[in-house]
Amino acid sequence: MSAPLLEFGPDIWVGEGPVVPFFLGFPYPTRMAVIRLSDGSLFVWSPVALSDELKGEVDSLGQVRYLVSPNFLHHLFLGEWKSAYPNASLFASPGLRKRRKDLIFDGDLADAPDEGWAADLDQVLVHGSFVMTEAVFFHRASRTAIFADLIENLPRDWFGGWRGYVARLDGIMEPNPGAPREWRASFINRRKARAALGRILDWPIERVLIAHGKPAVSNGKAFVRNAFTWLLGS
Ligand SMILES: [Fe+2]
Repeated sequence: MSAPLLEFGPDIWVGEGPVVPFFLGFPYPTRMAVIRLSDGSLFVWSPVALSDELKGEVDSLGQVRYLVSPNFLHHLFLGEWKSAYPNASLFASPGLRKRRKDLIFDGDLADAPDEGWAADLDQVLVHGSFVMTEAVFFHRASRTAIFADLIENLPRDWFGGWRGYVARLDGIMEPNPGAPREWRASFINRRKARAALGRILDWPIERVLIAHGKPAVSNGKAFVRNAFTWLLGS
């Protein structure tokens, strides 16, 4: 499958992957990001299926240094990327080591950026859920906040005629993006989650890159606030 990289901003590219079953087994479109760090190496976020064409494009941008999974649902293609780039460091999101005992990780995402990418990216773990903790990133050069499943923004017709499912999944679709309702309900420590979101909203966000659905290319901070009215209040 063709998965060309598209420029999303200065030193940041996105690649569209195939549709895979993610949350609750529903078919989801997938998207990855490639960021060129100021030392010229590449930070690969939530890698999608690796084709020869995609590998060629990535290689043309620089040397892959980091492979990063933002949450423990985004792990499907880490193994094939690590095989293709054995010298890259593979970073686990919270809980992923337990799920993927077959993979050898080189590090864990913390509540602050690793020193390898701290010059270019900031990072926050959104705690507060007993189900899943996601790492959210901010790429300073392009003023892009990067979310995986905390903000989903699927087209309204994505799930076809399954109206029951559409009703159930409302809240992850245009024009009301957000986290799936089942996951929202698991954030029983709202104080922790709000503290993390407060740090995120301190970033000078212009763009918002997400894994599933339409990203925001302007007014990013308003897009983030709108996606978290369930946490912040309207
Ligand atoms: Fe996802």
